[in-house]
Amino acid sequence: MWKGRFQTETSNLVKRYGESISYDWRLYAHDIEGSIAHAAALQDAGIINKTEERAIGRGLREIKKEIESGKFRFKTSLEDIHMNIERALTEKIGAPGAKLHTARSRNDQVALDVRLYCRAESKAIHNRILDLQKALLSLAVKQPEAVVPGYTHLQRGQPVLFSHHLLAYVEMLERDKERIRDGYKRINVMPLGSGALAGSTIPLNRKLVAQKLDFPAITQNSMDAVSDRDFIAELLFTISMVGVHLSRLSEDVILWASAEFGFIELSDAHTTGSSLMPQKKNPDVAELTRGKTGRLVGNLMTLLTTIKGLPMTYNRDLQEDKEPLFDSIDQIKLALEVFAEMMAVAKVREERTLAATSDPFLLATDLADYLVLKGVPFRDAHEIIGKLTAHSIKERRDFPDFRLDEYREFSTAFEGDVYRVLDIKTALKARKAIGAPSPGNVSKQITKWQKQFATSKAL
Ligand code: ARG
Repeated sequence: MWKGRFQTETSNLVKRYGESISYDWRLYAHDIEGSIAHAAALQDAGIINKTEERAIGRGLREIKKEIESGKFRFKTSLEDIHMNIERALTEKIGAPGAKLHTARSRNDQVALDVRLYCRAESKAIHNRILDLQKALLSLAVKQPEAVVPGYTHLQRGQPVLFSHHLLAYVEMLERDKERIRDGYKRINVMPLGSGALAGSTIPLNRKLVAQKLDFPAITQNSMDAVSDRDFIAELLFTISMVGVHLSRLSEDVILWASAEFGFIELSDAHTTGSSLMPQKKNPDVAELTRGKTGRLVGNLMTLLTTIKGLPMTYNRDLQEDKEPLFDSIDQIKLALEVFAEMMAVAKVREERTLAATSDPFLLATDLADYLVLKGVPFRDAHEIIGKLTAHSIKERRDFPDFRLDEYREFSTAFEGDVYRVLDIKTALKARKAIGAPSPGNVSKQITKWQKQFATSKAL
């Protein structure tokens, strides 16, 4: 492609080192779509005529079919997807093919292709997040009554509805969708026409290209346009955040599926056995997801580090943006899909959640609140219940087992109604503040999400 200035062939080692066709082939459909729009601009500028434009379109569509049917032979010697397609087009249709690259550089071409790719994949990820939210919601409504201990420091804290715990993930994923939609605005800007770095002397109708490719905006600085990759960094961050959320869910699932917790049972289809221990049922999907999250964060770091020292404008370093991007997108899509499938058919083991929530200490805070409502300052109430807890552990008797006169040895504020506090159902019902897990609140939240998901549009 640059034979004019060079006397000797590129070394085979350099070809192997510099090629990107082994992975950027997957941009082919976007590359072709972009070239068809560029041909329209060339025709509009009078560089090619209508017949030539049609020949280009026809040739490119044929190439697309050949790639999709596996007939196309990608050549490492042609470095990347852009040159592979351009060469094949010229071999197919001759002169018009050789005119296609007028007023275009691979620098703005690749910027366009990657934006088109990120646009399509943002939608795919967004919609998979929605599917996972729906799966979590379906699990939440299966056992609306199930109560579990809520934990801090992985120590039992206070009772919550299991559905409230699941809805926490629905909230996190909602913010992830918001991040995707927000980043989408910055991806959705048309860079073609920026040339290598300084546009072109040929007057291209960039608005026409943007219109053909359905871009609402056009890049306003040619130098920025060919070297900007922050839209990819943002997407990689969002994907990492989704991964981190899935990784936290993974950790919960792993704990819940253990004999020690036993709150859920995963289906056979989403677990694996052990080649040695016949009794094992392992939550590999969750472990893999927790593991792959490191890779997602790594991919973000890879790109940021690649960009950080680059002088203006395009530098070949930028070719290194693609593998981390492709990898993160492939992995997060799979993770979201498999999680949606797994969570939708998981079963809650209510006998185990019930056993765990029969721990009376879960209501220690409620007892302190009880004293507060009787006029005891909270700090004093906290100390009184702390002493009562120590007493309970020493005596091996639970809160409900103490007589009123025993309670009154700790504080005379205790009265006959103290036993009413010691009921999980009452305790949950009392948690009525916005965002707290009273059954009334949670069921309102469930209805809200159901309505929202029924009407939410795919991106
Ligand atoms: N394969 C290259 C990339 O992915 C395309 C742009 C090459 N531009 C250049 N001036 N060598 O970044």
